[in-house]
Amino acid sequence: MNNSIPYGRQNITEEDIEAVVNTLKSDYLTQGPRIASFEEAFANYVGSKYAVAVSNGTAALHLCILSLEIKPGDKVITTPITFAASANCVRYAGGEVVFADIDPETYLLDIQKVKDLLASSPKGTYKGIIPVDFAGKAVDMEAFRKLANEYGMWIIEDSCHAPGGYFEDSSGKKQYCGNGNYANLAIFSFHPVKHIASGEGGMITTNDNALYEKLLILRTHGIVKDEKKYKNTPAFANGQDESQIYPNWYMEMQDLGYNYRITDFQAALGESQLKRADDGLKRRREIAKKYFKAFSGKYFIKGQSGIIEGHAYHLYVLEVENRLGLYNYLRENNIYAQIHYIPCHLMPYYRELGWKEGDMPHAESYYKHCISLPMYPTLQEEEQNFVIGKINSFYEN
Ligand SMILES: Cc1ncc(COP(=O)(O)O)c(C=O)c1O
Repeated sequence: MNNSIPYGRQNITEEDIEAVVNTLKSDYLTQGPRIASFEEAFANYVGSKYAVAVSNGTAALHLCILSLEIKPGDKVITTPITFAASANCVRYAGGEVVFADIDPETYLLDIQKVKDLLASSPKGTYKGIIPVDFAGKAVDMEAFRKLANEYGMWIIEDSCHAPGGYFEDSSGKKQYCGNGNYANLAIFSFHPVKHIASGEGGMITTNDNALYEKLLILRTHGIVKDEKKYKNTPAFANGQDESQIYPNWYMEMQDLGYNYRITDFQAALGESQLKRADDGLKRRREIAKKYFKAFSGKYFIKGQSGIIEGHAYHLYVLEVENRLGLYNYLRENNIYAQIHYIPCHLMPYYRELGWKEGDMPHAESYYKHCISLPMYPTLQEEEQNFVIGKINSFYEN
């Protein structure tokens, strides 16, 4: 096999290219009709009332934190096995990140660990929780909502890995990641390795109208363009004391916002990709099944993502002995597996804030063994066979 096989890869079709080119030829490069159209299609896809498209997943997290009005010192709980942005967003507002360990079976934030933390402090100590649908496996958001309600906390669901993923609620109903039924806000990323690629891009979903309105304003510098909401007088606005009418040019910056807009041509690409999201998900699930079958019962496997109803398989993770040896051997064979993730609490930035080895034993043990295998819809059958064959030959020869 001459071609290199990465762990993830975008898939751009002629249709996608046409959607972008048509937008480039239109009157709008940004803030045009493609953004609203992408938002509507995405909200429909995940089943939420509202969706707000933004420049990337990190901006989405930052806007969530701003809309929830996190203050310096506010404590927020998240998982150490995630991309750093899930935690960093709390720091942007001066909040304190409190990590809770993962469940070694699911690799997700362990709700029991969160319960223990909450029970050990006075009510009101923690403001919110950021669970992550890591690797594409949906968090049981119903259980987290129940817990958050007991303590008056908000939830931001980081669903970057899981568009189309779901869990079954206590009545057996499918609850899609980011549908807004349990979390106050959810976020997605459209970075090229994700299910839907727009170059850079992100989305926030919610069922909360007040948060939605706030997000729209914060996304564009905190600017309001609605005369019912203006704070300055019409006389000031038009520069003529006697006039009671706001002039057409008028707008107000009422809050400290940002420029976190997505462009129209990125939104066009995102919406075009969204049309194939279910096909991609189907293929990811087939690939997962094949990995699972290939590695079940092998002596060198300590754990794997497995076959789980509703899993969106952004990643397929193996936990193995001699992970470094396997990683290097695969690279020698042009297979670029990856490691997700170096535990966030042991990044030097968080060590400086007091986190240390031994704080999160399950996350730390997971990190020593985990490796993410190639997983993307265009992975060819013979390429997957090659990957499986090389892993087996590393351990069995
Ligand atoms: C779990 C998780 N959260 C947040 C992000 C941030 O998204 P972006 O790269 O679009 O800023 C990512 C993407 O890498 C992610 O994987």
